[in-house]
Amino acid sequence: MTATLSHIIQPQDFTTGRLDVVFSLADQIRAMFERPAGKERLRELLCGKQAFNVFYEPSTRTRFSFEVAERMLGMDMVTTDSAGMFSSAAKGETLADSIRTYCEYRPAVIVLRHSQEGAAAEAAAASTVSIINAGDGKGYHPTQAVLDTYTIQEELCRLGGLTVVMTGDLAHGRTARSLAYLLAKYRDNRLIFVAPPGLEIGRFDDPEDGLTAYLDRNGTRWDETDCLDDALPEADVVYTTRAQLERMAEGTAVSAEVAARFRITPARMRRMKPQGLLMHPLPRTSEIDPAVDQDLQAAYFRQAGNGVWVRAALLYMLLAAEDPLYLMSLH
Ligand code: NCD
Repeated sequence: MTATLSHIIQPQDFTTGRLDVVFSLADQIRAMFERPAGKERLRELLCGKQAFNVFYEPSTRTRFSFEVAERMLGMDMVTTDSAGMFSSAAKGETLADSIRTYCEYRPAVIVLRHSQEGAAAEAAAASTVSIINAGDGKGYHPTQAVLDTYTIQEELCRLGGLTVVMTGDLAHGRTARSLAYLLAKYRDNRLIFVAPPGLEIGRFDDPEDGLTAYLDRNGTRWDETDCLDDALPEADVVYTTRAQLERMAEGTAVSAEVAARFRITPARMRRMKPQGLLMHPLPRTSEIDPAVDQDLQAAYFRQAGNGVWVRAALLYMLLAAEDPLYLMSLH
């Protein structure tokens, strides 16, 4: 397999074969990092290539894990973490013009986070270098979806035959939706969406071309309920998300009473299967009681840690001159 993906824009573009390659690369990078000689070798892999990390929206995990991965592979980097405020966007420059300018400075890749849905595709259309979508408004967050599937594979040793309960703000959140696109590529998965009124999965979905239509086309079973307690005992994975207040119209914030109906507590953990996994892309607000953190089934910080290996694998797959499987031959 060769590195034919020149951009990473939406989760639908990954095949299960390509995901397998990414997972193997991530495992290999992780194993190499544990040994001094392997660590040194990693630094040669993308040495001399530049990454521009252009973030118009706040980020903790995505930006740090990309930067750590870039350094790990020997890349040089330039980062701006408040691009909306400190780039010429504040003076009215279009995203396309900013991207054209960045390209003149010869990066190998631009990692872009933006508040507008569709921004990554717009950037790719203007770019002469690879674009990685690090989240575009309520659109997609493909690298998060890949690290989420990697985490499920690592923790449960399978990606098919799963019942996955997705809860929280499924209307404005891009992570659960992006993961759903990937889970639809595996057999016999069932998704149960549990959202407060007004924040349902199909709220802003294009009925012909949105997520639920995609699930139907792929034959992935899905249901909706507003009763979390009924859904929990069925779940192999519970994927919780926060209310995306920054994307809600003013005055539509979720009330404390509604939030409590969706909060994961130790009592609710006891309703889950003993092997069931609790995931969250983070940051959390009130939707997971911190008393749950010590539970081994709470995987969210391990999940965040996987971001480094998976993002390093994606960078390598996209940018390495050699076949990505070359890495597997290194010791
Ligand atoms: C998420 C995001 O930015 O979409 N965070 C992340 O990348 N891990 C989730 C969120 O902000 O709620």
